[in-house]
Amino acid sequence: MFDLPDLGESSCSETVAIITGGGSGIGASVAERLNELGSKVIIVDIDEQAGRTIADSVGCDFINFDVGDLAAWEKIVADTVERFGSLDFLCLNAGIGSRPRGSSVKDDPIPWILHNYKNVIAVNIDGVVYGTMAALPVMENQRSGSILVTASVAGIRTQPPDPIYALSKSAVISFVRSVAPALADRGVRINALCPGSVDTPIQPDERRLARRPMSPPEEIAEAIGQILISDDNGGIWIASSSDYPVWRYEFASAIDGPPS
Ligand SMILES: NC(=O)c1ccc[n+]([C@@H]2O[C@H](COP(=O)([O-])OP(=O)(O)OC[C@H]3O[C@@H](n4cnc5c(N)ncnc54)[C@H](O)[C@@H]3O)[C@@H](O)[C@H]2O)c1
Repeated sequence: MFDLPDLGESSCSETVAIITGGGSGIGASVAERLNELGSKVIIVDIDEQAGRTIADSVGCDFINFDVGDLAAWEKIVADTVERFGSLDFLCLNAGIGSRPRGSSVKDDPIPWILHNYKNVIAVNIDGVVYGTMAALPVMENQRSGSILVTASVAGIRTQPPDPIYALSKSAVISFVRSVAPALADRGVRINALCPGSVDTPIQPDERRLARRPMSPPEEIAEAIGQILISDDNGGIWIASSSDYPVWRYEFASAIDGPPS
């Protein structure tokens, strides 16, 4: 059993953090929490108005860019290190679903699969791979740095209302598990958190209207902060419900043959 450390008063002081998708929901809560704990926080979001509003209320920086743009990533990381001296935490959190906002989860997902496929891959997968690769030279040079990917329980179990979203989250879970040893060789850590239902704008309205239980984003932000400061590497953490503590998911260790 791997226990996560508590976020103490000074656990993030003197650190620099970039948080993608910080203009809303989980990312906005992570920005608020890390800022409160003394991190220099930079919010990234494609939605300029939302990002600026959150940055003004938190009292942090905001950069308007698309996480699916590798050249933009390289510039933002270089600018951050030039301005603030380091990059300690990278929270790769921006994410979208295939389903058009306002649609019902009971609708047939087939018409959206090709329509939104490339967009979902660009944000949910490119955003994670590009962010990791842009930050890596800096973190390797520091011989320290912690990357957290917001995945989803949809990446472990099935998600029939949105198969492409599930695919993208499975992909980043696999990326985190597989790239972790190479990052460890460079003094860098990477982990993922898989939330269940969280009360943010990404959730279909009908789930909110049906009063489906959802975790508050602040609870997920707390877990993200704890994982960022932990010693874990390659860990896939689950935050499926406010009723349980966050736990580390263990995959089957071997698939060399059928169960005997
Ligand atoms: N809310 C949930 O129930 C839930 C459950 C599991 C996982 N997640 C994951 O948590 C993460 C955060 O989602 P949320 O619930 O806070 O949703 P949200 O919609 O409130 O926030 C997502 C943010 O990402 C930004 N974004 C979208 N595309 C972008 C791009 N190309 N470049 C930069 N920013 C972009 C949006 O503008 C938005 O501000 C996502 O990866 C999501 O898949 C959410």
